[in-house]
Amino acid sequence: MFKADLFKGKRFLVTGGGTGLGRMMMEKFVELGADCVICGRRGSVLEETAKQVMAKYPGRRVDTHAVDIRVATAVEEMIERIWVTGPLDGLVNNAAGNFISQTKDLSPRAFDAIANIVLHGTFYMTNACGKRWIAERRKASVLSILTTWVWTGSPFVVPSAMSKAGVAVMTQSLAVEWARHGIRLNAIAPGPFPTEGAWARLNPLKEGDDNRYNTRNPMGRVGRPSELANMAAFLMSEEVEYINGEVIAIDGAMGIMGNGTFSNMMAYSDADWQRIREQIQSANAADRAKRS
Ligand code: HXC
Repeated sequence: MFKADLFKGKRFLVTGGGTGLGRMMMEKFVELGADCVICGRRGSVLEETAKQVMAKYPGRRVDTHAVDIRVATAVEEMIERIWVTGPLDGLVNNAAGNFISQTKDLSPRAFDAIANIVLHGTFYMTNACGKRWIAERRKASVLSILTTWVWTGSPFVVPSAMSKAGVAVMTQSLAVEWARHGIRLNAIAPGPFPTEGAWARLNPLKEGDDNRYNTRNPMGRVGRPSELANMAAFLMSEEVEYINGEVIAIDGAMGIMGNGTFSNMMAYSDADWQRIREQIQSANAADRAKRS
């Protein structure tokens, strides 16, 4: 769906790019001609991913940096080191941390473990790149991976929902503040995409079982990682650079399903609907009879 050299000459950094959705997006960028940098906490995982992707796409480069984005000084040092080898043209804020828990059971350290990655780490990354782009008058694009909870909130993942909502507001704020520097910021709000990291922490009692989403998602399925990678490539492309400050869901309409008063009726059969129709018609008939 994209021209083969869409990202020729571009260099993108994907946080958490060694595994899961981050890796999928990075591979898509490389497939479309970009060189990439991936960072994460596990150096060996990053290196293995980079090796595999470079073997698959000869001529392309994937550099790796082991870093914990919760540490502002480490982020600054990494970005400095990356820039020595050449500037970036884009940043994908994909790294995240999350687990389900009753909120009353969360310690301050538990809250911080999530907020320091998602809210603080994303800001450190974005600002470290942004100030360089502004100084160099370099056009760039930032894409952050959020969830639809930024609009609705979500029980049992409060630190994540709060932190990602903060990143949504950062996206809107900086889209305005930095547009005049040629920097645009957008975000994707994915629904359920099964990856090892997320599933272990969000579906612990239902490992390997995606059935819940067959009934709870209007499209009756979870997301395909390639769909997210395509969306990311679309938004990173300069061909759509007038898109700025947006948070776009890719969730089969799951995020808005619960908002409909009658969403629970998705499971009704044709026979149920026939009964409903007859009940309404008999109520109408009874009303009419009283009018005459
Ligand atoms: C309650 C918990 C907990 C749990 C940890 N803590 N897990 N509390 N329930 N399940 C508490 C600990 O007791 C501790 O507090 C504090 O949190 C820090 O725990 P650590 O294990 O020391 O933290 P750390 O090693 O920094 O681990 C970070 C992490 C971990 C976020 C907790 O899960 C992680 O590294 N995750 C990265 C990958 C990830 O989460 N991927 C999924 C992303 S999915 P005390 O007070 O006891 O010391 C996502 C959105 C998906 O982001 C959207 C789907 C629709």
